[in-house]
Amino acid sequence: MIQPLIDPFDRAISYLRVSVTDRCDFRCLYCMSEQMNFLPKVELLTLEELDRLSSAFVSLGVRKLRITGGEPLVRRGIMSFFRAMSRHLDSGALDELTLTTNGSQLAKHAAELAACGVRRINVSLDTLDDAKFTHITRWGRLSQVMEGLKAAKDAGLKIKINTVALKGFNEDELFTLVDWCNAEGFELTFIEVMPMGDMEGRLDQYWPLRDLRARLAERYTVIPLAERTGGPARYVRLGEIDQKVGFITPLTHNFCESCNRVRLTCTGELYMCLGQEDRADLREVMRNDPTEAGLAAAIRDAIKLKPKGHDFDYDRQTVAGQMPRHMSHTGG
Ligand code: GTP
Ligand code: 5AD
Ligand code: SF4
Repeated sequence: MIQPLIDPFDRAISYLRVSVTDRCDFRCLYCMSEQMNFLPKVELLTLEELDRLSSAFVSLGVRKLRITGGEPLVRRGIMSFFRAMSRHLDSGALDELTLTTNGSQLAKHAAELAACGVRRINVSLDTLDDAKFTHITRWGRLSQVMEGLKAAKDAGLKIKINTVALKGFNEDELFTLVDWCNAEGFELTFIEVMPMGDMEGRLDQYWPLRDLRARLAERYTVIPLAERTGGPARYVRLGEIDQKVGFITPLTHNFCESCNRVRLTCTGELYMCLGQEDRADLREVMRNDPTEAGLAAAIRDAIKLKPKGHDFDYDRQTVAGQMPRHMSHTGG
């Protein structure tokens, strides 16, 4: 029996999020600057190195692998990585292989993702209005995402829509989004916007989910659910329409005490928390020490650095615990 990965606060680490690229074909206002300096290719882990590192985590007890970015599906050759990871599903070492995507490339890849054992995907979408979509993503086209969603549905993938709650932007679409997800058979999760990256002009955008939830309760019976997916979301069911809705509340309700995850970047840095800088350079370790034991020891040492939680705080006047790192660096 291998020893599970346990952090200093007695939390078992069973979930690895792997950012396979810092690039994206969109430039969401809350995620990236318009002019991003992307990493030079030589800095990136190769797909073989991503395999080796991810597999090392699986052999140390990680049971859930989520592929993120940037936009994971813009990384060249990424499907070969999914195919490689599917062997851990086949062996029973992994419970879930999944991804968080902006949906733009799903039309191309959905069927193959399903063939690799992906069952459920999270798709980021903040508005159903074409013009607003192009505004918030700077470069995106809503119709492309809609085609992607259709392909994913046809491939039999379960879909969860991730919507960042933004005051003055999608407040007026709350019920439109709920009804649309209901009609399409999608789950829907709202996320409180976190003060990361470029904060200019963004102070007023924070929409606390307790307020959003209160608005939902004006129209529907909001029934709290006990179920968890191993993520930070808390779920409710809207009684009248039988719609599941999740809330990810890094600001109004800190969920760090039950954190089970760490994040690997596309350069092989292991971030112990989305909101802190504690990290370890696993690429160096991997390139200098070819043994699995050396890598495993480095991972265990890194987990010892996991902090208690983030310090994000965000109200209309001030932002605290801000993180200059862009979300695309660590993959959300
Ligand atoms: P499920 O497996 O469906 O539960 O997904 P998940 O919530 O683990 O992953 P997802 O990629 O859908 O996460 C959605 C967003 O929630 C992320 O992009 C982040 O914005 C936020 N989030 C996820 N995990 C954390 C975390 O550990 N800390 C903080 N502060 N935010 C997180
Ligand atoms: N706050 C909250 N969520 C964010 N995301 C990106 N930037 C932020 C932020 N500042 C979300 C995206 C997507 C996921 C990858 O991260 O909307 O759902
Ligand atoms: Fe790309 Fe997602 Fe960031 Fe938008 S939020 S720029 S889609 S990585």
